[in-house]
Amino acid sequence: MSRSLSRPTRGKTQPGRFRLLDPLLVGRLAGIAAPDVVDVGIGSSPRTTLELHVALGRRGRTTGLDLDPARVQALCDLDEPGLHGFVGGFDADLPPVDLVRAANLLRQYKLDAVPDALLAMGRWLRPGGLLVEGTTDRHGDRGVFRVFQRTADGLVPDALVFVSDPARSGFAPRALTPYLPRGMGWHGHPGAEVDTLFTAWKQAFERARDAGARTPAELFAGSAAGLAEIGLATTDPAGHAEGRVVVPAPPGARRGLEVARPE
Ligand SMILES: C[S@@+](CC[C@H](N)C(=O)[O-])C[C@H]1O[C@@H](n2cnc3c(N)ncnc32)[C@H](O)[C@@H]1O
Repeated sequence: MSRSLSRPTRGKTQPGRFRLLDPLLVGRLAGIAAPDVVDVGIGSSPRTTLELHVALGRRGRTTGLDLDPARVQALCDLDEPGLHGFVGGFDADLPPVDLVRAANLLRQYKLDAVPDALLAMGRWLRPGGLLVEGTTDRHGDRGVFRVFQRTADGLVPDALVFVSDPARSGFAPRALTPYLPRGMGWHGHPGAEVDTLFTAWKQAFERARDAGARTPAELFAGSAAGLAEIGLATTDPAGHAEGRVVVPAPPGARRGLEVARPE
């Protein structure tokens, strides 16, 4: 993998930005006594990398990777057991890990660089390991992540995860479209599979409202339950209440690495 794939990017980050996502990652790694994880792109403050390590119970090894040595140094200065810094990009030579989290990074890359970047990060995974890539708004009140799993067949789509903090940002399904992963049904491009999902979500939203849901949180959880009823999302009332909807990839899915360009 050529080093030239990596690009210096802006470094903005905010404490708590992954408060809606990280519990899902903790759940997915629950069976691993001491998980090895990599957070790609530390940003201007090492707080969100530390928060992932703390969410995982400080029980494994969390590595913050960044192209910028000063950002890596700030992480190392925390002097937190189990938390490590590594200067490098997509070509970094890392020991195999259980999880790669890459947030608010690829949005700043050219669309045609995205598949190679995903494949490069996927190479760090142990068999069964997860690559979680996505975008949020500044405070993590809204976001979308795609999850891939490394299998014997390579890196395969596992799920799309939508996060929303309705009490802080209100809620309407299509308000999440600006955070869709790079190259995926850009802005709900009509005809894309993701557009079908948002149409179903809007219908579920209307059914929840007709059934008496009023607050943004009730509308989020009610519409998520409606999506689950028709088999498009997992049934997970606790996750819905925490602001997460998980849309599993169809069995045998191969989609997600290719670049869908808007017409
Ligand atoms: C916008 S910040 C995101 C920080 C944090 N992940 C968040 O979402 O709040 C992006 C960071 O990724 C780093 N970065 C960009 N490309 C990278 C690459 N290929 N490998 C490692 N770090 C990279 C930048 O230096 C920057 O610190």
